[in-house]
Amino acid sequence: MASIQPSLLLTLLLSLLLSCTTLASPSTKKRHEEYESKLANALTHYASHIGSVTTSSHQALLEEDGTMHELEFAAMAIANEMNRLSLIRYRLGLDDDEEEEEEESEPNSQLDTADIEKEAMIKDSLDPEEWYAYSYWELHAYFSCAAEFIKSKPIPTPERWNDLRSFYHEFVQQDLQDWPLQNENEPRSYIYTDVSYDPPMEPFQSGFKGRGLKANRRIEKGELVFRATNNTIIFTHGHTWRKFLFALYERHGEEEHQLDSETTCDVLVWSWIQRLVPRGPLVIVMDLDNGSLMNEGREDEGWEDPNVKCGKEDWCDFEYYAIKDIEVGEEILCDYREFAMLNAWVDMGL
Ligand SMILES: *[C@@H]1O[C@H](CO)[C@@H](O)[C@H](O)[C@H]1NC(C)=O
Ligand SMILES: *[C@@H]1O[C@H](CO)[C@@H](O)[C@H](O)[C@H]1NC(C)=O
Repeated sequence: MASIQPSLLLTLLLSLLLSCTTLASPSTKKRHEEYESKLANALTHYASHIGSVTTSSHQALLEEDGTMHELEFAAMAIANEMNRLSLIRYRLGLDDDEEEEEEESEPNSQLDTADIEKEAMIKDSLDPEEWYAYSYWELHAYFSCAAEFIKSKPIPTPERWNDLRSFYHEFVQQDLQDWPLQNENEPRSYIYTDVSYDPPMEPFQSGFKGRGLKANRRIEKGELVFRATNNTIIFTHGHTWRKFLFALYERHGEEEHQLDSETTCDVLVWSWIQRLVPRGPLVIVMDLDNGSLMNEGREDEGWEDPNVKCGKEDWCDFEYYAIKDIEVGEEILCDYREFAMLNAWVDMGL
């Protein structure tokens, strides 16, 4: 067992943060860079420390009251610092959202048995006790999502959505009990708005794309098609989102047959990352309603053209407008890259 206590390292990390000046002034670019590299080193060090503590003696940790909790808390702190770090980089112009390197994504790529095998191997290599440190793709593997998405999935019934929404509320209550908010100015997860909205579209099975949304009436170019509602939920903390997925996965019990890959993998792929305000921090967003079933279109070869776009001007404010006339029954498609940051999971500690 390593001799340095996690709490000690956390103190160190926090004092490092406090010694940093405010992030706004552009004249202190050099200082920011120094700060950034210090922070990056501290994070790397801390992350590897967490790894060594957990692998060295799980049992002892689990029996030692509260230690596990502390490690989880540290993982959350690290995730948040990564988000802060990415915000500094972005504000300094070191990272540009637009120029984000694009992940190899083939048009409507189909999962195959090789993906499932690869994922099963990753899953085998994961230590369940270290769940709080899993990355996005490790979570994907741990919940066996490749195997899940090869199946054809039914359209969620209204009961299923209700169940998911009530579970979300229970989760938020539980999470606040586990870790009451301290000096944070924002909750770790919340409902975006109290507005409700009945969009002119309905779910259907869209061939090889799986579930999708189609227009249930004619929609004219420029019309509002979809917007954020009280079913749009926000996670400001990457770790809280991870915890939500695990809670969902195990909500009927931890026995193999009780685990809920189906819902958990849906929620995982329905989630995306964006900034709520220009130059603001990254958050995770998802819709707990049919809106989540919208498929992607791109003006690229091999893709179908999108017919809705987020935001009227450049900024996506959770309002999606028709960019052409849409006929009844036509599938609604949107280019996710206009609002979602597809490779930002690591910046939220995931
Ligand atoms: C949004 O409001 C509707 C209608 O009151 C309700 O059924 C639904 O559960 C709410 N959504 C959430 C996430 O609470
Ligand atoms: C979502 O789709 C289901 C299935 O088509 C439908 O019954 C339900 O009314 C829809 N919900 C909303 C809020 O549009």
